[in-house]
Amino acid sequence: MAQPDGGLPKSPIGQWLAHLRASRPLRLLLLIGGLSVAVLLAATVHYIASMHEREIKGAERELSTLNLSLAEQTTRAMQSVDLVLTTIVEQMKSEGIATPGDYVRRMGGRDTHQMLRARISGLPQLDAVTMIAADGHLINFSRYYPIPPVNVADRDYFAYLRDHDTAEPFISEPVQNRGNGSWTIYLARRISGPDGSFVGLVLGAIELSYFERLYKALQPDGDGSISLWRRDGILLARYPFLPDIGRPLGQRLFLEVLQKARSGVYLAPIGLNDGPRLVATRALADYPLVVNVTRKLEAVLSEWRIQAWTIGAAGTIGVAALLLSLWALARQFSAYEAATQAMDAARRAVEGRERAEHALRQSQKMEAIGQLTGGVAHDFNNLLQAIGINLHVIDSRSDDERISGPARLALQAVERGATLTQHLLAFSRRQQLRPIPVDVAGLVERVSRLLGRTLGQSVRIEVEVAPGLWAAMIDPTQLEMALLNLALNARDAMPGGGTLWITAANRTVAADAVPNLSAGDYVTLRVCDTGTGMPAEVAARAFEPFFTTKEVGRGTGLGLSMVHGLATQSGGGVELDSRPGRGTTVTLYLPRALTEPAAAPAGGTGAGETAATGIGSGGDVGAGAGCAVLLVDDEELVRTATAEYLAQAGFSVREAADASAALSLLDHGFRPDVIVTDHMMPGMTGLDMARALRARQDATPILMVTGYAQDLTTAAAAQEVALTVLSKPVEPSRLARSIRHMAAAED
Ligand SMILES: Nc1ncnc2c1ncn2[C@@H]1O[C@H](COP(=O)(O)OP(=O)(O)OP(=O)(O)O)[C@@H](O)[C@H]1O
Ligand SMILES: [Mg+2]
Repeated sequence: MAQPDGGLPKSPIGQWLAHLRASRPLRLLLLIGGLSVAVLLAATVHYIASMHEREIKGAERELSTLNLSLAEQTTRAMQSVDLVLTTIVEQMKSEGIATPGDYVRRMGGRDTHQMLRARISGLPQLDAVTMIAADGHLINFSRYYPIPPVNVADRDYFAYLRDHDTAEPFISEPVQNRGNGSWTIYLARRISGPDGSFVGLVLGAIELSYFERLYKALQPDGDGSISLWRRDGILLARYPFLPDIGRPLGQRLFLEVLQKARSGVYLAPIGLNDGPRLVATRALADYPLVVNVTRKLEAVLSEWRIQAWTIGAAGTIGVAALLLSLWALARQFSAYEAATQAMDAARRAVEGRERAEHALRQSQKMEAIGQLTGGVAHDFNNLLQAIGINLHVIDSRSDDERISGPARLALQAVERGATLTQHLLAFSRRQQLRPIPVDVAGLVERVSRLLGRTLGQSVRIEVEVAPGLWAAMIDPTQLEMALLNLALNARDAMPGGGTLWITAANRTVAADAVPNLSAGDYVTLRVCDTGTGMPAEVAARAFEPFFTTKEVGRGTGLGLSMVHGLATQSGGGVELDSRPGRGTTVTLYLPRALTEPAAAPAGGTGAGETAATGIGSGGDVGAGAGCAVLLVDDEELVRTATAEYLAQAGFSVREAADASAALSLLDHGFRPDVIVTDHMMPGMTGLDMARALRARQDATPILMVTGYAQDLTTAAAAQEVALTVLSKPVEPSRLARSIRHMAAAED
């Protein structure tokens, strides 16, 4: 798969992440979605947890309530037994029994036995009542008479109560009946003499199965249990039944709870015989007994578990649905974004193409106008050349001021016409340029000094040249002229005064950054004014030759077209930025020179002979004596005028109307010292003719006078055939001088 960035192929996740980084709305969407999912999850978990807590709390409340009533019933059962014992003790006190002897003597009879039997009837929990003497033997017993000879001095209750003068009842360890296996505890009370001495005991035997029956009737739920404990952790009774009765079951958790409070609820991680249980524990107020009620945690939570699963499943489905919609939404959104981007790109492409087409049309239009004006200028140049030379001849032949005066005036008009044709040729890119490395900073400084005098007081001139400015490859004379044209335009646009900035800087242009300008290094020269600016329709045509908004006689419309021609012919460009009321900025892009400029030319122009286009009078007539010239030109007017002038100047001139005529003259043995030729001629051009001559080893010096310097601008073309080039129109005396120099060099 081809990757646009040329790197490794990205995984789908990588692509997604890149997409996410690029799109802020998508990030926002995912953030909101993620938050919603988190909230939904948290809400579900919280709800399930609070339901769990509610369920446990409810079970705890239920267990505590049940435990309270069980504790009360247990207490009541014990109190009934205790009441029997205390009644007996009170009765003995009232009867004055105060010594162990009294006790044995007065309580051992059958009547006492009858009384004991009567007392226990109606109390199902009270199995028997026993009276015990201070030495441990039985005095009386509710179950049998006569009394069996039994001694209980070794029992825990006897030892404790004998040694402790206490009014509190004592509860014995459970004892198992060896016959039927049933369990019994004893509630014992001490009988003390008035001096506190030990008289004996009364003892109630409580069968623990009573409590098992009681608890069975009150059993909370199928999974519940109720148990009775002594405070020291010995199990006394339990429903459902456990075979651990009478055994101290270690350090039970409820003992810890009861150290701090009378009652409490806690979670026992491991029950007596199975998993975790919820336990409500309560200590009885009057007896060292504890009642515990428990439920299996699993059973307590069974309903909650079903609800939790249901809600959890619903929550999960909700989250999944949310994630799915989020995913779908994100995909939809990405697709939408991609489509929008594609549309944007398409729109930009269309706009770009339209811009390019517009620029192309514009440059084609300029090209067409260029060709037209170039043709006109060329013909016009020839005419000027002919007129100029003839006027010069008239002027030189007449001493009559009435004739030579108007001739000189006419020559001045011809000179102005020549300047115009130069501009035209500049626009049509057919003037001969002499690009050399130019120090633009120096040139700008010279021109701005000149402008200071020309533009007048009302225009302030600000010059700013970037340090380290590159040299530009350009014809310096033409550049000066261009700068002058721009400054004059700015002045015209600021009739009430203003500021003119001339700035120069380096700029590296990327491909397609500036219309019609190839990528590379340029020196930019910017002329900016605070004038009226141009409406769009004027700006669109400003570079066209002859386009002017100025009144007749004030503007020719050639200033900007010359600037345009110079910049483009030199391999640079020009940009115009102007809006009505906001001033105008013209930026010239001059190609950077690869070599440094020679020492700054003092006179200002670095251009060669072509720049001097004057056809003014004067010159050394007669200088050409003895020099043979072959004059080749298809324009008869120009040719004959030039021939006449040269003949008058002492040259011996032969004329040829085209290149082939010239070649045949040469073939017939004519040996001129110099060949003077036009370039553009029907059939063979001047350059072609020169090549043909050089090909035949003919080294006759050739001077080319042409309006079309374009083809010869490249020094290489001229050097190849050793040509000297002069631009039309050329001052006749200068022509004569050039011919003479060339002939002399040959000699
Ligand atoms: N700096 C400027 N501010 C406002 N308008 C301008 C500016 N420069 C040029 N123009 C407009 O562009 C037109 C063409 O300018 P251009 O220099 O080619 O010809 P011109 O100034 O009219 O005549 P000339 O040949 O004397 O320079 C001007 O007539 C003017 O309307
Ligand atoms: Mg102008």
